Amino acid sequence: MSSLEVDAEFELDSAVDVESQLSAFTQSLTSSVTAYPIEHGRRYHAYKDGDYFMPNDENELDRLDFFHEMMVRLVGLYRCPLKEPKRILDVGTGTGIWAIEMGDKYPSAEILGNDLSPVQPLWVPPNVKFEVDDVESRWMHPHPFDLVFCRYMDGAISDWAALIRNAYSKTTPGGWTEFQAFDVHFRSDDDSLKPDAYMNQFVDHLKEGCRLAGKELVPGPKLEGWFKEAGFKNIRVETWKVPMGPWPKDPELKRIGMFNLAQATDGMEAFTLRMFTKVLGWTVEEVQVFNARVKQEYKSKLIHSYFTL
Ligand SMILES: C[S@@+](CC[C@H](N)C(=O)[O-])C[C@H]1O[C@@H](n2cnc3c(N)ncnc32)[C@H](O)[C@@H]1O
Repeated sequence: MSSLEVDAEFELDSAVDVESQLSAFTQSLTSSVTAYPIEHGRRYHAYKDGDYFMPNDENELDRLDFFHEMMVRLVGLYRCPLKEPKRILDVGTGTGIWAIEMGDKYPSAEILGNDLSPVQPLWVPPNVKFEVDDVESRWMHPHPFDLVFCRYMDGAISDWAALIRNAYSKTTPGGWTEFQAFDVHFRSDDDSLKPDAYMNQFVDHLKEGCRLAGKELVPGPKLEGWFKEAGFKNIRVETWKVPMGPWPKDPELKRIGMFNLAQATDGMEAFTLRMFTKVLGWTVEEVQVFNARVKQEYKSKLIHSYFTL
């Protein structure tokens, strides 16, 4: 057997404190947050069991990291004119990849990521911390943040207006709150996507499932109103088309379309399995047949569709 290689950087890095990491590790491993339920072979969050419909298993975490790559290619890590931040909050951090990259970019800032699932890596830059938290419960952070960032929580949140009010209350004066969210309705500019397409049926069913579960699937178009209501000043809205598949002529958009196709085909089961069986009452077999049809359309060269960020 070959010998195991020592992480020399870890050994030398005085900022890595094993004692405190061990204590954070064991604390976070209480059964209430890690007794993950398994349904039809997919693993889901345990804290506030049933609150969120997407899995938290390796497949889904890989998809989220892939999604992150697509987002960074499309819009960068963030859009606001951030200057020398000291404290940053990543609301619903997922795999923590955004928070970790921000920690690398701003080594003197403290970055906090929270999520229902403690699925983030243990060895992260010393200025990055993760917490298990329900972002829809009271925000207990003792200090405000120079940036409150929230990306891709579509379908996860019941009360977006309250979430954005909380963000406002925890943003330093002169700081920024940035939400990146979608209008997931598929569109095509050349009518190549037909109204009765399975892709459209998919969004309609998902929207109905979210509605029954008390969640908003399409927050993107409403963000500006909620930001105004919360009291934010200097609001800026930007929109992007996110192509599905490599149909655009522009080489960068073609690549983004491939990223999107990969994450969307990989993610079909994650989007539908729990929501369509538990909330809409479909059988697993019905979900699988339907998903196959949607994926076929995603890959069609004749459909030039996109959704909007
Ligand atoms: C689609 S992922 C996006 C992750 C990350 N923001 C990103 O852009 O890669 C949504 C995340 O929100 C988390 N989530 C859903 N509802 C939540 C809640 N009420 N409180 C905290 N996290 C939540 C999920 O566990 C999941 O990790």
